[in-house]
Amino acid sequence: MKQIPLDYHVISEQESKEQSDAFYSKMNKRRSVRVFSDKAVDKGIIENIIKTAGTAPSGAHKQPWFFVAISNKQVKQKIREAAETEEKAFYNGRASEEWLKDLEPFETNWEKPFLETAPWIIVVFKRVYDITPQGTSKNYYAQESVGIACGMLISAIHNAGLVTLTHTPSPMNFLRNILERPAHEKPFLLLPVGYPAKNTTVPNLVRKAVDEISLFIE
Ligand SMILES: Cc1cc2nc3c(=O)[nH]c(=O)nc-3n(C[C@H](O)[C@H](O)[C@H](O)COP(=O)(O)O)c2cc1C
Repeated sequence: MKQIPLDYHVISEQESKEQSDAFYSKMNKRRSVRVFSDKAVDKGIIENIIKTAGTAPSGAHKQPWFFVAISNKQVKQKIREAAETEEKAFYNGRASEEWLKDLEPFETNWEKPFLETAPWIIVVFKRVYDITPQGTSKNYYAQESVGIACGMLISAIHNAGLVTLTHTPSPMNFLRNILERPAHEKPFLLLPVGYPAKNTTVPNLVRKAVDEISLFIE
């Protein structure tokens, strides 16, 4: 493949320190939100967020992701109904005792009104393989690649002053049917996107300290 010059501008160590401090402080304010305002969000902002996710690295540059952004009220209602059916089964028997206990601090239940209240829902699909004119083409490390793209999507949502919830109604195959996506796309995450409702509260979580999540070998 043709090589091109890297678009890169060196910054000083001081700038590097300041920017990494500022970025960490900003990202440390990100929280999952479960109660949304119905205030509209411009489509262009959602497009920018998706474009940012699309800059993620991927195995052999296969870009094995597909994003469906929904603001249509009828479609959001269908998604809510189907998600609540799955979540009802999950909370009323499908989930293990241990899992339900781990979820207790979040005070969640089968009801998902945010799937209708939030102005947008982004559904992320993982392309297990690609369809090409010759047949099919394999995707490598699709799980890792789409996971990274989702991290960048969530960061872009936060950077745009919006909030989201990483939502995984289980199982999620209903999304493929409602959104009429092909069989080689597997639903990966469901993210309501918008503004938090007034006076929203979040669980008082503590994040692990750097020495609990890392080891430096110098
Ligand atoms: C893969 C994944 C799946 C999740 N699924 C759900 C979900 O279905 N419902 C929910 O309320 N929260 C869900 N969460 C949100 C987590 O509970 C939340 O990220 C965690 O409690 C940390 O809180 P924070 O995001 O505010 O830092 C999920 C998070 C991840 C990363």
